[in-house]
Amino acid sequence: TVASASDINLWEKSTLNDILTRGEIQVCLEAGYMPFDMRDKKGNIVGFDVDIAKSMAKAMGVKVDLRNTAWDGIIPALLTSKCDIIISGMTITAERNLKVNFTDPYIIVGQSILLSKDLEGKVSSYRDLNNSKYTIATKLGTTADYATKRYLSKAKVNLFETESEGALEVINGNADAFVYDLPFNAIYGSQNSDKLVHLDTPFTYEPLGMAIRKGDPDFMNFINNYLAQIKGDGTYDKIYNKWFVS
Ligand code: ARG
Repeated sequence: TVASASDINLWEKSTLNDILTRGEIQVCLEAGYMPFDMRDKKGNIVGFDVDIAKSMAKAMGVKVDLRNTAWDGIIPALLTSKCDIIISGMTITAERNLKVNFTDPYIIVGQSILLSKDLEGKVSSYRDLNNSKYTIATKLGTTADYATKRYLSKAKVNLFETESEGALEVINGNADAFVYDLPFNAIYGSQNSDKLVHLDTPFTYEPLGMAIRKGDPDFMNFINNYLAQIKGDGTYDKIYNKWFVS
C-alpha cells in the first residue's frame, strides 16, 4: 500500500519536514535551570536538555539552533513558530497540555525545598512551612509557583523571574525557603551548603516532556521513538550521568 493523499498532506505540514528542509532544528529553552539549561563560563547554553537536543538533531542529520526564551513567553514562542520545540525542563501539566502537545516524559522530577539554615531542625517538610509566619520564594509561572500556592497556601509567596533571584532571597535572609524542581535545588544547595539546607523529599510528581505544536503526529512519532531508543541503547544514560551526579 502507498500513503494516502491526506497522509502526504499531513507530512508536508509537519514540523519534522520543515526541520529536514531547513537543515536545522530550532529549540526554545530558557537558560537558568541547572542542570537542564544553563550557561557555561563562555556563555554557551549547555545542559541535559541541550545534549538530548543535540543527539536528536544528529539522528535527524540537522544542526541545532538554541533559542533562549523567557519562561513566561516560551509557550507563546512555540505557538507562533519562533521555534520547532520546547526542550526546557518543562513539566507536563493538564493546563499546558490544552495548548501544546507533550512527548513522552524524558525524566521525572518533583518539587523540593531549599531551607534557610536558620530553620534547620525547626522545619522538616513542606507541611511545616505552611504557616503565615513563613515567606517562600519561587519562580513565576512554574510548577513550583503552582505547588507553593496549593500546598503552602498559608505562607507568603514572593515570585521571581529567574531561579537564581528566587534562591538568593533565602541566602540574603529575605525568604525562609525556596521551592523548586529538585535537580536545581540539589545543585544550588550543595553550592551553598553553608547557608541552605536541602529538604530533598519531593512533594509533587512531575514528568518533564518536550512540547510541540498540536496536530503534528509525524514529528511526535519521531521524537517518542527516538526517546525510547536512546533509553534502551545507553545514549540516555550517558547523557544523564554527565549532568546528574549521584
Ligand atoms: N519544571 C518546571 C515547570 O515546568 C520548571 C521549568 C523551568 N525551566 C527552565 N528552563 N527555566 O514549570
